[in-house]
Amino acid sequence: MKIETPYYLIDERKLLKNLEKIKYLRDAAGVKSVLALKCFSTWPVFPLMRKYMDGTTSSSLYEARLGREKFGKEVHAYCVAFSKDEVRQAARFSDKLIFNSVSQLEKFSGLAKNVKLGLRVNPGISYSHFDLADPAGKYSRLGITDKKDLLGALPKISGVMFHYNCENNDFGNFSKNLDHIAAAYGDVLKKLEWASLGGGYYFTQDGFPLEKFAKKLKAFGDKFGIRLYLEPGEAAITRSCELVTTILDIVRNKVDIAVVDASTEAHMLDLLIYRIPAKIDAAGAGRHKYVIAGRSCLAGDIFGTFRFKSPLETGGELRISDAAGYTMVKKNWFNGLQMPSIVVKRLDGTLDKVRTFSYNDFVKSF
Ligand SMILES: Cc1ncc(COP(=O)(O)O)c(C=O)c1O
Repeated sequence: MKIETPYYLIDERKLLKNLEKIKYLRDAAGVKSVLALKCFSTWPVFPLMRKYMDGTTSSSLYEARLGREKFGKEVHAYCVAFSKDEVRQAARFSDKLIFNSVSQLEKFSGLAKNVKLGLRVNPGISYSHFDLADPAGKYSRLGITDKKDLLGALPKISGVMFHYNCENNDFGNFSKNLDHIAAAYGDVLKKLEWASLGGGYYFTQDGFPLEKFAKKLKAFGDKFGIRLYLEPGEAAITRSCELVTTILDIVRNKVDIAVVDASTEAHMLDLLIYRIPAKIDAAGAGRHKYVIAGRSCLAGDIFGTFRFKSPLETGGELRISDAAGYTMVKKNWFNGLQMPSIVVKRLDGTLDKVRTFSYNDFVKSF
């Protein structure tokens, strides 16, 4: 089947490799994993994901609802700040409501009587390559920092959520930080039913010591007699998707610049936010060097500079790798550019075009 570019191509076989590692953690360490919908909410692949994961976690009422309606299983509803009406609604269909502050817990716990309540705790340590994404950075509003507040809130909560990592693939650092949490919060953890260690671990990456990770998590859970959760976003979907584009033009301004029918700003926004280059598996060593650029009006709409073995040609296909996380959830209609369709390559190899976008979608997006 010939599919018009641009499109995001999600490959379920690649997704499965990550999901099997997640299942391994459940079997070996008793750790439940809830998908962080902020990273990936392309629900046509949820039927596969739900076989390997335990539910979803959210950053808003709408994500929580999507988790309930499209994923099922456990729904963890978290938001940096809920409104009263949102708490009322979320309480109807969530299993856990996690508040970001003691003031929100105090104000709203009465509205959520049949739901397990939790608090987000900022443990004062973190791992992140980017200040922008550091959950425990200076003046962070993400979670409570005062242990006294946590002790005071204990009668109202059954669990806590620590999210303090971002793209952490360093097992040594993870291990040291978990020991810190055990020492600082062990007394509290013993009194609780569950604790989430958040997301931000790159445990599905090749070479990550998954067995050691599982052992460490199991020892932690056993020590405090607590049900542990992880909230993988990126780890669940890493390397499972490509943004498939066509080269529309090649221009020269001291360097060769290939312009594709997609855009960083509209279709892979995090490249711009974090100022990181895209990954292109077809590139590497080679004599032919190109800047790969998007077709929005933004001067800095650049995927990066890459080398290829053969010259690129107008009309040729170019695939941007690792295009699942924080991409489709952030896509936007900047410049009114054609929105990439979403195509799923199912486990049996069939291609399923699950979403296409038209001019009407652009019109309705005002
Ligand atoms: C509370 C929380 N949980 C989970 C995640 C998922 O993180 P990642 O996609 O890095 O695994 C995030 C990401 O920001 C988060 O803020």
